[in-house]
Amino acid sequence: MAMDAKLEAAYNAQITMEYGSAYAYLAMGAWLEAEGLPGMALWMRLQADEETEHALKFYQFVLDRGGRVELGAIDAPVADFERPLDVFRRSLQQEQAVTASINELYALAVQSNDFASIPLLDWFVNEQVEEEATVQQIIDDLERAGDAGHTLLMLDRELGARQPEED
Ligand code: FEO
Repeated sequence: MAMDAKLEAAYNAQITMEYGSAYAYLAMGAWLEAEGLPGMALWMRLQADEETEHALKFYQFVLDRGGRVELGAIDAPVADFERPLDVFRRSLQQEQAVTASINELYALAVQSNDFASIPLLDWFVNEQVEEEATVQQIIDDLERAGDAGHTLLMLDRELGARQPEED
């Protein structure tokens, strides 16, 4: 069954948002790398890859449903930060905005009885819980580290151990 036009537009907006997230994470990674924090930079690069995967999940879904993919413009991301803590705080804000957007998509899918959307959106609802929790944990660690340089370096090593996600 073809998708409701409003829902299709919302999916297209979501594709652009996920690519926007990837772009923002790349900018964060570049800043962290330049600050001498390669572990955190790698974490951001892998996060950018995940966001690209998210965009492609929506992209493929729209196509599988016989819809039209329309990619929107992406704003230049924020590229300058005060300190690593600000980078991860910004990341959390971004994830909260994505969560709100997924929730709206869910509501729209339910409203238009688009049952095929439910398993896909359930996956994203869970993914957002995980992403917000992960970033919140890093923020907590960074807050605890304060100005202690050695703790920051330890955290950098820890985050640098992140592996690409398999799905
Ligand atoms: Fe695709 Fe981090 O939300």
